[in-house]
Amino acid sequence: MKRDIITIGDLTNSEIEEIFDLADQFLREMSKPTHPHRIRGRRTDAQSHIMAALFYEPSTRTRFSFEAAMLRLGGDTLGAADPTTTSAAKGESVADTVRVIENYADVIIIRHPYEGAARAAAEYGDVPVINAGDGGHEHPTQTLCDLYTLRKESKSLSSANVMLVGDLKNGRTVHSLVYALARFGANVIPRAAKGLELPAEVSRRLIEEYKATPVPARQFFGGNDEFVDLDVVYVSSASTLGLVPAKQRPRLDGERDPGSPHRGIDVCYVTRLQGERLAGGEKRGADYPVIDKSFMSANRFRETSVMHPLPRVNELGYDLDEDPRGLYFKQAAYGVPIRMALISKVLGIRPFVSTEAAPETILYTREDGIVCGNPRCISHHPSERLHLRKKFWLIKTRPVTLRCIYCEHNYAPHCYGDVATRRYTTDLAELDTVYSDQIVFFADETQAREAGFKPESATERVRHV
Ligand code: NCD
Repeated sequence: MKRDIITIGDLTNSEIEEIFDLADQFLREMSKPTHPHRIRGRRTDAQSHIMAALFYEPSTRTRFSFEAAMLRLGGDTLGAADPTTTSAAKGESVADTVRVIENYADVIIIRHPYEGAARAAAEYGDVPVINAGDGGHEHPTQTLCDLYTLRKESKSLSSANVMLVGDLKNGRTVHSLVYALARFGANVIPRAAKGLELPAEVSRRLIEEYKATPVPARQFFGGNDEFVDLDVVYVSSASTLGLVPAKQRPRLDGERDPGSPHRGIDVCYVTRLQGERLAGGEKRGADYPVIDKSFMSANRFRETSVMHPLPRVNELGYDLDEDPRGLYFKQAAYGVPIRMALISKVLGIRPFVSTEAAPETILYTREDGIVCGNPRCISHHPSERLHLRKKFWLIKTRPVTLRCIYCEHNYAPHCYGDVATRRYTTDLAELDTVYSDQIVFFADETQAREAGFKPESATERVRHV
């Protein structure tokens, strides 16, 4: 089966560790002692493979490092760095583009402004697809670079305090990152610019799926006044996991004494204002936080690593470039060995060895009934709407929860109908026993009526019981 990497959730923790081990091997074999982060030379592993890079949004690091990775592996690349030079400019859909490109390449890397575009590409393509950023949704390969950088710095994620600064609403890098942090046992500390807080959808998943507990920051930091500007800490429950075994790494503040009121910040992850994702006329950023040497001079940041996916605009001071706490250029350098490892894995050159049974999921797909309500989802865009099938995962039956497979927004339908009887009911409780592909979900009763369904009568309701 082909392997697509669309969200960080598409990789298990052990697969992530496998990617890191392989990246270590590439660095060991190909870097020079003077530049231990930098890959040089070429291998032959991927010499019979071609990678297509479809970038419908600007990119420097992600595209160049993917291309460099493929070339260093001995493979070849095809690329569209400017969407105006492809048929996308003529209105061609992602689905059609992918069904053409799969004939020319063995793996497709896609960056696109629509949320869920990479999943749509994966649905239509029969070669592996890797998401290089889909709108404000996710950017899983950046997260791999981020976590790998921390591992190379011997920073464990277990109980680490990771502060995320800036545009947490639209920044796709932080969306992939927070899930990974929770999975590897780090505490997530949002410090968003005003009005650009983590989307409710993301914090809900952090709590419900990744079992993080929201705790008031003052309480978490033992009432220490240094932390008054922080609101909440998502305390991770997976505190036994870590990317580096404890014996190989220095202990972190928080680990020394978990009850200590002086726990420091281990990582400060800065992001730029995602101006391209602001709605027309939306004005933000006047009071956007700036992280520079003066900000970082506070006691709590003494041993803090400063990270940034780059590009920076004004939010990260150049005066930190020579500071040993700044890791952002290393993050960018590690993009090559990490993407070499990822490409080798998905192409099956170095297949994943760890196996974990995928959780059972039910795919719900019907053209009538509930639709994804996220206006940024690819399923709403004119060039895609005509052909893209509406698809949801039925992730829970109590309460009934559907997740759009493209943008991953969740929906709680208000009622469901039986296609055979054309009746609907708002009683969703018994769905566990009656669910079948004859069922259609509706957002509300108006939608059910408009689709020609009638409410279930009292006698029918009695019969169900
Ligand atoms: C990020 C992106 O494209 O989301 N850049 C990157 O890939 N390193 C961050 C950003 O553009 O702000």
